[in-house]
This record gives sequence, C-alpha cells and structure tokens, in this order.
Amino acid sequence: MPTSFLSVLKGEALDPPPVWLMRQAGRYLAEYRAVRQSVGGFLELCRNPDKACEVTLQPIRRFGFDAAILFSDILVIPDALGQTVRFSEGEGPILAPLRQEEDLARLGKKNGFQEALAPILRTVALLRKSLDPKTALIGFAGSPWTVATYMVEGGSSRDFLAAKRMAYGDPGLFGAIIGMLEDATFDYLLGQIEHGAQAIQLFDSWAGALPELEFRTWVVEPTARLVKRLKAAHPQVLAELYATETGVDAISLDNTQTLSWAVQRLSPKVALQGNLDPILLLQGGAAMERAIDHCLEVAKGVPYIFNLGHGILPQTPPEHVSALVERVKNRR
Ligand code: CP3
Repeated sequence: MPTSFLSVLKGEALDPPPVWLMRQAGRYLAEYRAVRQSVGGFLELCRNPDKACEVTLQPIRRFGFDAAILFSDILVIPDALGQTVRFSEGEGPILAPLRQEEDLARLGKKNGFQEALAPILRTVALLRKSLDPKTALIGFAGSPWTVATYMVEGGSSRDFLAAKRMAYGDPGLFGAIIGMLEDATFDYLLGQIEHGAQAIQLFDSWAGALPELEFRTWVVEPTARLVKRLKAAHPQVLAELYATETGVDAISLDNTQTLSWAVQRLSPKVALQGNLDPILLLQGGAAMERAIDHCLEVAKGVPYIFNLGHGILPQTPPEHVSALVERVKNRR
C-alpha cells in the first residue's frame, strides 16, 4: 500500500491531506513521560533503540498519524563529534561552547562518531519493521547552520551573537565548522536512508536569522551540497520509484544497489534478484563465500532469487561457478 505522505512528496494532491505533527512524541504524552523517567537522560533515550522506537510509535498508535518521525534530536551530531551536550530539565540543551580553532580541533569523527550514532540507526531499522506499511518513516537532521548555532553559542540563543560574529568575522573557522557538519550530516542521513527512512527532513530552525548574502553562504550553499551528495549516493531512490510505479513483479539489482536496503524497502512490494559482484565470482575463494553468505543471510525470509549484479565475466573459471551453486544450494 502506498503511503499518503510519500505520494504527496512525489507531487500528488490528496484530500484529505496526510497529517503528522512536529514533536509528536514528547512530554505532552503521559506514556512518553513514563518511558523518559525510566532512562537517565534524554540522550540516553535517543540511544536506546527499544525505547526510542516505543516513544516514536506512541503517537502513531494514539492518533493514527500518517507519518512517524524518528525519535532523536538534531544535537546528536555535535555529541557524536565529541562536543559535550547536555539536556537539562526546563533549560533546554547546554553545550561546551565552540569559540576557537583549538575547540574545533578536538572535535571530529575520531571521537567514536559511528559508535555514537549506531544505536540511532538501529532504531530506524526497528521502526521500519514495526510500522504499518501505510505509515511513512521520516528521518531527520539539523542543517549545518542551525546545528552550528548551538555548537558556537553553547545552547539556544535569542540573537545568535557569537555564531554570527564568527560567521562574519572569522569565516575560515566558521566555514570549517560548517564543513565538518556537512560531512557528518551526510554520513548520518545516508545511514538513516539505508536503515529504512523513506523521507528526510532537514530542520533549519534558525535559517531566518541571517541577512541575504550570509544566508546564501551559510544556509543555501551547504544545504544544496548536502542534498546533491545524498541524491548522488542514492540511486536506490530510483529503484524504489521503479518498484512502486511500474508494477513489475521482481527487480534485478545491480552492484550499485545495497541488498539489505532492497530487502527492507523493496521486498514488501516486489521479489528481488541479485546482486553478487561478478568480480567476486571471478576471484572466488573466501571473499566470494563471505559475500554469498551475506546475500543469503540478508534476504532470508523474503522472496529472493540468487544471481549476480551483472553478467559473468569471460575470464571466470567455471569451477568458481560450481562452488557458488554448491554453496547456495547447501544453504537451503
Ligand atoms: O517527535 C518528534 O518531533 C521527533 C523528535 C525530535 C526532537 N527534537 C525531540 C526532542 C525532533 C525532530 C527534534 C528536532 C529539534 N531539536 C530541533 C528542530 C525543530 C525545532 O523545534 O526547531 C531543534 C532546534 C532541536 C534542539 C532541541 N532539542 C531543543 C531546543 C530542545 C529543548 C526544548 C524542549 O522542548 O525541551 C530539545 C530537546 C528535545 N528534543 C525534547 C524532545 C522530545 C525534550 C527533551 C525531554 O524529553 O526532556
């Protein structure tokens, strides 16, 4: 069943329109407060896949919204980059302010970036499995400018004095912060898409604070680069469109596609075929065996046909083909 939310994103007009609400999971719900109390803090809740999944689903169950938004926060990115981030009751977020070169030098993906975000990506995968297919799953991140304001100010701000003074007075340093955020946000959003997010919302809550020229430099350009990179990295988006709109029964995946992604997103609609790299077959041995096992494992339980991502290469030893067929058959 197509989701109304995604149909509208593709340009369809619906009456009545799909509905969901920002911060639909949160303190206004008693059932949220109960889960929130059971964990230490807000970031701990974001990093607990079972509980984050539960609070995401609470408003869906109660109100029947057409889309669920991942329960997380835009400030998990500075946290994953190594900046100290706290959420204190009633005060909002508090960060160790980033004001100079040395502060920036301490931050980066070296600070356990992947590890910090891995549980959030697990929440995304868990959600996609738990949600009814007619409910869309929205992933999100803050845009570089908006996240940078929190990083530089050290929290919420009324006038963005520190962030704007840095952007205007030391564009080299501010540009380096924006660049780091662009890169980190790209990785994070790509991860969300690959784990089952069907749409991405970029929150640029404070975009309106900048005058025109600065708006172009710090809001429009970084966001445009981010969107372009995401679209280029995701030919899969086309595969999904193809699967939903052409009515074919099966899709043969080439090597640009990720089988685990296709299993999550395409297999409810179509059977899958593919997508071992023919060079793995040419090479044979342990790498080929690992890849075969991976395909079989990932596609277990969904309609799936084992195949290559492209045709057999002329130099391929036929013994490798025998080994492949034997490995696939013996698994079954
Ligand atoms: O249901 C949902 O909308 C999904 C989760 C979500 C949260 N924050 C949960 C949250 C989303 C999409 C956000 C986005 C976010 N976070 C934005 C962009 C949107 C906007 O509101 O402008 C911004 C600027 C933030 C940063 C942030 N996080 C602030 C300023 C605060 C404090 C304000 C507050 O309401 O306490 C947070 C905390 C936060 N994020 C809470 C929730 C549920 C409250 C934390 C708690 O339960 O203690």
